Amino acid sequence: MARPVKSIHGEWTSRWAFILAATGSAVGLGNIWKFPYVTGENGGGAFVLVYLLCIAAIGIPVMMAEVLIGRRGRQNPINSLKSLAEEEGRSRLWRWLGGMGVLAGFFILSYYSVIAGQSMAYIPRTLFGVFEGVTPDGASSIHTALVSDPERLLAWHTLFMLITAAVVTRGVQRGLEKSVRVLMPALFILLVMLVGYAANTGEAFTRGVHFLFDADFSKLTANSVLIAMGHAFFTLSLGMGAIMVYGSYLPRKTSIFKVSVTISIMDTGVALLAGLAIFPLVFANGMEPGAGPSLIFETLPIAFGHMPGGEFFGALFFLLLVFAAWSSGISLVEPIVAWMVENHNLSRRNATMLATSVIWLLGLLTVFSFNIGQDWTLFGKTAFGLLDYLTANIMLPLGGLLIALFAGWMMKKSSTAEELAIGNGVLYYFWLILIRFVSPVAILIVFANLTGLLDILNK
Ligand code: PHE
Repeated sequence: MARPVKSIHGEWTSRWAFILAATGSAVGLGNIWKFPYVTGENGGGAFVLVYLLCIAAIGIPVMMAEVLIGRRGRQNPINSLKSLAEEEGRSRLWRWLGGMGVLAGFFILSYYSVIAGQSMAYIPRTLFGVFEGVTPDGASSIHTALVSDPERLLAWHTLFMLITAAVVTRGVQRGLEKSVRVLMPALFILLVMLVGYAANTGEAFTRGVHFLFDADFSKLTANSVLIAMGHAFFTLSLGMGAIMVYGSYLPRKTSIFKVSVTISIMDTGVALLAGLAIFPLVFANGMEPGAGPSLIFETLPIAFGHMPGGEFFGALFFLLLVFAAWSSGISLVEPIVAWMVENHNLSRRNATMLATSVIWLLGLLTVFSFNIGQDWTLFGKTAFGLLDYLTANIMLPLGGLLIALFAGWMMKKSSTAEELAIGNGVLYYFWLILIRFVSPVAILIVFANLTGLLDILNK
């Protein structure tokens, strides 16, 4: 079977367009909202170190694998995996790996949208000076008032799903390329400014830096290692087909190695900046680093409430955060929509409407998990906690493991080498060793460690 040269959904106009879109997917709430709070909950430095190791040893090679599978398959993740499996003489069952990714996308976006909604709600709040001179307790009660009201949360969640659907309907390339080009650099500059502001907290800044970078391994549990690895997948948008589907729109001549490394560096940079901005504020105001998902909504407003021009900068910051979440949200639905268009003959518009409606409905679980459904728990977790744990810590690493096995062991070396086009030299073999052995074994060890399997074997 001849491989299509282009995806039916079109192609990026340049290598930069892909880098921007994939960075748009990677940089989002994961960097600014989630990274600080999971770092806070898991004790700081040692957790950050494991996370960075996972980015380098698992994230980058798996990202290269996803892009190469997508670009070679030129279709949605389910079809790309199916046709590549056929081409390589492997089982068509591999398409289920794509299916799991689509499902993970559903689950993730359902809660992602609710958190993005909270960020949206903070735009008018900062702009109209609600946080002026605010105390830590005040910031915390303003956030509580927002999340404990299901109607308001629902309204913002709905708005976020609508703007996401609007872009996906138009086709990702046209919708995304332009916006990401301006907004990503702006977000970056604002973060650097916030770090500058945090640097003025003196001793608290030093404490923040130590908290982020001093590794105290006694704070690391099996579960926090899993969370660090899961977060590496989450933040790079790996393991569910988002990067794969973007890879399917990538022109042939682009170097997959270069784009993957660039995206990973930018993503990690943003997360570390967010950490450097937030932890000094946490310590300067006597707050708890382990406050959980509300961390940024309770710390950053204090900074905005006290800096000159804080209304403006605060509103701009939350606006840019919403844009970052938006470009990630889009990449979470794109695999589903591409699949419905290719396999079920739906128009892009109908596919988007159908997918986003179902996700919106599922999002109600998260909306309620902050208020009327706080006590609906399973395994001690709320619906939001469960969706987050299941996707980020189980489904994405499992997806990543299977992607590594597929690219490393199911595809012929000649195919992967041709696609990566980094020659048959050292770099290719370096990747091959990472994807064949290092990534899968690391993921398996983390899983085994979590289930207590390693303890049992040690006895
Ligand atoms: N990487 C995004 C973030 O950090 C979230 C995401 C996960 C997007 C998986 C797509 C796929 O916010």
